[in-house]
Amino acid sequence: MCGIIGYRGSRDATAVVLEGLKKLEYRGYDSFGVASLAVNKLVVFKQVGAISDFGYADMPLTRTNLAVGHTRWATHGAVTTANAHPQLSNDGKIAVLHNGIIDNWEALRQLLVHEGFTFSSGTDTEVIPNLIQLYISKGYAFHDAMRTTLQHLHGSYAVIVLHEDFDEIAFAKVGSPLLVGRGDNEFFIASDLSAFAKYTTNVVVLPDFHYGFITSNVSLFSLDSESRVEIPYQTIAVDVDEEEDPAIQQYMLKEIMEQPRVLLRAIDQSKDRFELLAEIIRKSQKVFFTGCGTSFHAGLAASYFFASVAKINCTPFLSSETGKLVEFFDDKSVLIALSQSGETADVLDAVKLAKNRGAVVIALVNVQGTTLPLLADHTLYLRAGVERCVLSTKTFTAQLGLLYLLAHTVAGNFSLAHTILNQLAASIQEVLITQAAVIRQVAEKTYNNSDYFIIGRDFASACAVEGALKIKEVSYIHAEGFAGGELKHGTLALVRESIPTVVLVTPDTRTRILSNAMEVKSRKGCIIGVDSLPNSVFDYFIQIPHVSEGLSLLLCIPLQLLAYNLAILRGCDPDKPRNLAKSVTVQ
Ligand code: AGP
Repeated sequence: MCGIIGYRGSRDATAVVLEGLKKLEYRGYDSFGVASLAVNKLVVFKQVGAISDFGYADMPLTRTNLAVGHTRWATHGAVTTANAHPQLSNDGKIAVLHNGIIDNWEALRQLLVHEGFTFSSGTDTEVIPNLIQLYISKGYAFHDAMRTTLQHLHGSYAVIVLHEDFDEIAFAKVGSPLLVGRGDNEFFIASDLSAFAKYTTNVVVLPDFHYGFITSNVSLFSLDSESRVEIPYQTIAVDVDEEEDPAIQQYMLKEIMEQPRVLLRAIDQSKDRFELLAEIIRKSQKVFFTGCGTSFHAGLAASYFFASVAKINCTPFLSSETGKLVEFFDDKSVLIALSQSGETADVLDAVKLAKNRGAVVIALVNVQGTTLPLLADHTLYLRAGVERCVLSTKTFTAQLGLLYLLAHTVAGNFSLAHTILNQLAASIQEVLITQAAVIRQVAEKTYNNSDYFIIGRDFASACAVEGALKIKEVSYIHAEGFAGGELKHGTLALVRESIPTVVLVTPDTRTRILSNAMEVKSRKGCIIGVDSLPNSVFDYFIQIPHVSEGLSLLLCIPLQLLAYNLAILRGCDPDKPRNLAKSVTVQ
């Protein structure tokens, strides 16, 4: 998942692009590159590393009025300068920046080699500039060469193209996100709005199979009909994007700590909206949850309280595993799609499949101006503000809060749930403050372990899975979260002396989960209890307030802080873990 941005206007285009790349860095930070057009001369700078580690002065770039930039998360080709974007044509006149995957790149590469082209990168992207060069060499005008090239590409792409001889930005979109922003005699184009929202939020969110050209205006074409199309601009009201504060060392900790406020903001939405969605759910015959990673875990946890509170049996499924489940979608189905970014390719694919079968789609999204809200029939925004850390923490709590409120609204208890959630925000605050020291102590004692187990029962088993994801993705310790009852069915074989096992205790499951804890303890495992009550089986006790409702919103809080502390102790970057990106826009 890469980030791309382009600018044409009267500002210092290179400065606008570099600034925008820093906003997009969460999409990938292996390497970055900038291309600018200075008096019919293409100037290119590429570098391995994160853009935020470099300044304008470090780059041999000059002030121009047209520039493009790319920050990379490697899909094809190692993390090297040669594989950084822009990728250039053999004649060096065409620069292409790409987010997505060209499925038929090998066949195209062979065709181009046959035509005498050579390749200097391991990327799929490099076929694009050379195809354009090939068609121009056969007499095509630049625009026709662009269109013909696109017609030969299979796969997903958001591409931005510069040609040295033309003072314009060419672009195209299939599958990966791309927006055009309109300012005062200036245009922006980027993977998401955050890259240029400080200048304008008047945008066109490009639909799939469209391409176009930015000159002193924007011309847009359908790739299918090849005809020119007009798509109205819309002004997207975006949450105030807290400027990146250089004083903030780690966004992960900041975003964990702001969860009480985020939860209150998330649920501060009109009751009528929830009643409308609740009625849709009541009238449906099947309810599905889908998402990936942490968003899936929110749906998994929600399926428990939809069963207990709304008395609805929901089916949570991983978006990448839709498979044969699609047979069960119909016009009596509701799909609740969860995605912080609104651009996760697997989620978008699952939503399209469900819509094709007539299902109603309710989306829970954080980032505005993204693709998922365009596909959904109804969207609830998380209103969590920009989540800069690659790990989802505050948006997980916002998702759970909204789903908890929705489940209770289905059961006719909106006001009761709203009151409970307000109380839970205070309980989250209490845990964050009173348990920080013991959680740090647990991390200090266990950060050298190679494995971590987290067990829970009922909805706490979903929290266990989520907690394990947090630990492994930020501290690189192998962590496994699972239902405590499963220990004796195999995983117990891995239990050995001192292996840390977090035990998530709920009032209804306390007896059983503590006996699972004893199974570990009797084999000299280290037990970290998360409970409202102490217990002699605990080697460490992380105390959470006793709450009669909504406990799933509390159980992950200590696990988030534990993951953060383990990462710091192990010298890991808590905001930009290795190999990961914030928005996974490829399948
Ligand atoms: C969670 O910490 C990860 N960042 C990842 O699992 C994430 O939840 C997943 O990629 C889904 O992203 P989305 O919510 O933007 O769709």
